[in-house]
Amino acid sequence: MQYNESEFLIETVVPEDELIISRTDLQGIITYANETFCEISGYEEDELIGKSHNIVRHPDMPSAAFADLWDKMKNKKQWIGIVKNLRKDKGYYWVKAIISGVYKNGELVEYKSLRTPISYEEKLQHQKLYDKMRQENGEKIRKVIYE
Ligand SMILES: Cc1cc2nc3c(=O)[nH]c(=O)nc-3n(C[C@H](O)[C@H](O)[C@H](O)COP(=O)(O)O)c2cc1C
Repeated sequence: MQYNESEFLIETVVPEDELIISRTDLQGIITYANETFCEISGYEEDELIGKSHNIVRHPDMPSAAFADLWDKMKNKKQWIGIVKNLRKDKGYYWVKAIISGVYKNGELVEYKSLRTPISYEEKLQHQKLYDKMRQENGEKIRKVIYE
C-alpha cells in the first residue's frame, strides 16, 4: 500500500466526553457503529456495517497487537490496548480500546469495543513502541513506506 506522506500528518483528536462504540460478529465483521465512531473515522454508518473491522487498521499497528487481541477473544478474555486507527481520509486517531464478548443467555454471540481518548504522552510512547515491535518483527515501518 502506498500513501502520500502528508496524509499521515492529520490527527483527529477524540473528545474527552465521547465514547467510540462498535460491535462485530465472531469473525470481526462490523455489526454496529455509533455516531461518534462514524464521525471520528470519517465513514458513514453504511460504509462500516458489514465490513471487516480492519477497515480502520493503521499501517503503523504491529500485527502482534491484533494477534494478542484475537487470542484473548478466543479465550473469552477482555483485551485492553492502545490503538492507532486509520480514518477514511488516511488521517489517524488514537484510542484506548476495551474489547470483550457480548453474551446472550450465556452464549458468546458478538464482540464489542468501547474506546476512549489517551494523552499525548501515551500516544508518543505507543508510537515508539509499535515502531519497535514492527521493526523487530520484520514488518515495514514508516520510513520504508515513504520510500
Ligand atoms: C470488537 C472488535 C473491535 C475491533 N476494533 C479494531 C479497531 O478499532 N482497529 C483495528 O485496527 N482493529 C480492530 N479490531 C481487530 C480487527 O478485527 C483486525 O484483527 C485488525 O484490524 C487486524 O487486521 P487483520 O486481521 O486483517 O490483519 C477489532 C476487533 C474486534 C473483535
